[in-house]
Amino acid sequence: MAGASIFQDDRVAKVIQIGESGLMYVIGEEEIEAVRRVFQRKKLFRYQRDEGECDSFEREFAEKVGGRHAIILSSGTNALIAAFRACGIKTGDEVIIPAYTFVATAAAVLNVGAIPVVANVDEELGLDPSDVKAKITPRTRAIVPVHMDGLASNLEGLLGLCREHGLAMVEDVAQAIGGSYDGTGLGTFGDFGCFSLNENKTISCGEGGILITGRRDLYERAFSFHDVSAQFNPVRKELFAEPQVVAGSSMRVSEVLGAIMRVQLQRLDGIISGLRERKKLLMAELAGISEIRVVQGHCAEGGCGSSLHLVFQDPASALSFGREFRAAEIPFLPVIMRPAHVCWKWAPVFNAKATDYLSSLDLLSRTLKLDIDLSLTTEQTERLGRRIAKLLHHEIPGGE
Ligand SMILES: Cc1ncc(COP(=O)(O)O)c(C=O)c1O
Repeated sequence: MAGASIFQDDRVAKVIQIGESGLMYVIGEEEIEAVRRVFQRKKLFRYQRDEGECDSFEREFAEKVGGRHAIILSSGTNALIAAFRACGIKTGDEVIIPAYTFVATAAAVLNVGAIPVVANVDEELGLDPSDVKAKITPRTRAIVPVHMDGLASNLEGLLGLCREHGLAMVEDVAQAIGGSYDGTGLGTFGDFGCFSLNENKTISCGEGGILITGRRDLYERAFSFHDVSAQFNPVRKELFAEPQVVAGSSMRVSEVLGAIMRVQLQRLDGIISGLRERKKLLMAELAGISEIRVVQGHCAEGGCGSSLHLVFQDPASALSFGREFRAAEIPFLPVIMRPAHVCWKWAPVFNAKATDYLSSLDLLSRTLKLDIDLSLTTEQTERLGRRIAKLLHHEIPGGE
């Protein structure tokens, strides 16, 4: 591979890059070693006599992102469900979610018997406070900003609405682990932050989720919900004054995932800085091109840098440039076509009105997305940026 690496963290440069066979950014010998240690202890259940891998990961993750309490569990969807339950959201309540999110956000709301209400996204692809305001009713209980594709939503505006109307905020941070807003970790602004650890997230153990909260009472409720037997388990006795049966679930994960995640967490800063550097290089090459606007989220420097979004003036231009990029083997994809990430695919299932999200469809149909490739060198990234710019100027038919 030509050119100097722009990795600042040597540990990242040394690890195995999972290329075409998988989507994880980086995984290496350290994860294998961590799993080996768990097997050597022959105790895979998360509850140990002393602090186990899951306990340590929860403490380390909470310290890293700034939440007071964290729970590692079996998926991001389950993190949302446990958060909604802990917030007391129930049958008939309304929960406002954005038009641009993975179907799991809506499914988690439905799972607790509540009604997902779809609000439009703003120009930065996050939940639009002005549309949320218009959709608040006496039945609204919570707002779910989703920091899609690593882009921070307008937390200031949304928090203001939550305070004004006495609503819970559950941040869906599935796609933005390691991102921040005004210098503070995404996921720590709401009552809960819910993260996914599945394969195509900034850090991952294949499958899993994390939930964080700053409130002890919500933590206890969520903990009990994620493990129905926790209240009766001697190692968790200190959490509960008097054991009670909770109609919870079993969302625990084993020590194997906890151990992998402790290593992945150490890689997080290197992955995020590598992605941000590459996005910055690409953006520098695209500066001043009037045909497009680059989406930066509501806190440009806090975004994860995991993808580059170009917004065109009309859907036809987005489609035709998308075709040109792909012909040149630059895999920009129209956001509107994502199979389970845009509400026009899933909102009809629960009879949401199409008129509730029309402006989002207009924006998303004008937007192309390119995932940032962490394995590219500085030189390769700059060359890619120049090729994108040239194609936007119609200077090259399909290459440099
Ligand atoms: C925005 C969003 N929310 C929730 C989830 C659900 O996470 P999981 O697949 O871990 O259940 C995902 C997963 O990709 C997601 O992208």
